[in-house]
Amino acid sequence: DRLPALLRAMPKAELHMHIEGSLEPELIFALAQRNGVKLAYPNVEALRAAYAFTNLQSFLDIYYAGASVLLTEQDFYDMGMAYLEKAVADNVVHTEIFFDPQTHTARGVHIKHVIMGLHRACLVAEKRWGITSQLILNFLRHLSEDDAWLTLEQALPYSDYFSGVGLDSSEVGNPPEKFASVFAHCKNLGLRRVAHAGEEGPPAYIWGALDLLHAERIDHGVQAVHDAALVQRLKDERIPLTVCPLSNQKLQVFPDLADHNMPQLLAQGLVATVNSDDPAYFGGYVNDNFVQLFAATGMGVREAFQLAANSFEASFVPQERKDAWL
Ligand code: HPA
Ligand code: ZN
Repeated sequence: DRLPALLRAMPKAELHMHIEGSLEPELIFALAQRNGVKLAYPNVEALRAAYAFTNLQSFLDIYYAGASVLLTEQDFYDMGMAYLEKAVADNVVHTEIFFDPQTHTARGVHIKHVIMGLHRACLVAEKRWGITSQLILNFLRHLSEDDAWLTLEQALPYSDYFSGVGLDSSEVGNPPEKFASVFAHCKNLGLRRVAHAGEEGPPAYIWGALDLLHAERIDHGVQAVHDAALVQRLKDERIPLTVCPLSNQKLQVFPDLADHNMPQLLAQGLVATVNSDDPAYFGGYVNDNFVQLFAATGMGVREAFQLAANSFEASFVPQERKDAWL
């Protein structure tokens, strides 16, 4: 069967990955040692053993704990380079990387160290391997809109180094309307907009992300299938969904990958894509997501090419570069 080799070799864009979710346990312990940070786990094995998630919140608690080792610009650079090297190995030619500044500024880390460390990694990776990147600042939705406004203000001196904003963290109970005014302002500033919606939350949150946040892509969005009018809108407006199969499996959105609705999303003509979300926590980088999803669902070569094409269409690169890809 040559399908796994094709999936691994095909050029692709990755559009939904949280850089803090690429921190492997080994790097968490190395940075903890370098920075003198005390962890709640005695060693790598004990930390990895704690990766037994039952839902989004049980994951987020451990994900924020892991990120506590990041203090210096060099830490953010090292984390970025580790991910970008893996992306290159997976034949990712373009990646749009989420980062969560509030997870770091709340611990006294200056946002400059977060953004400039990641930006430097993107520059070095492009020079070394040819991969292009954009950074997307995500607001934590379990915090207040005032906190998001403050974060935007802190980030704007470095706005040359990120292309857009997104919304992540605990979805249910933190609907998009909570962030309508800050997203409207980001739109006026010329920033691109994405938002997590319809991962665990209802289709109403996807409508809200589109109508109130002016989101140009929906992160996850797999719950859209429960609303026919919403599916029609996503299709008509070619609004991409950045789907993360192994994340959905590990967080019990689709406990069995064989039941994942990606085949249905593609059959309905949606611009769905495959992404890794938090690869260090969910058991694989983007190619592992492709290979395991295809093995479980029985999708074939047609779907493979569709997903690669969708990843380029859904990206925020200039149209001329998309035309060259597609
Ligand atoms: N959903 C919401 N917040 C997140 C995720 C996710 O999948 N990954 C990291 N932060
Ligand atoms: Zn995500």
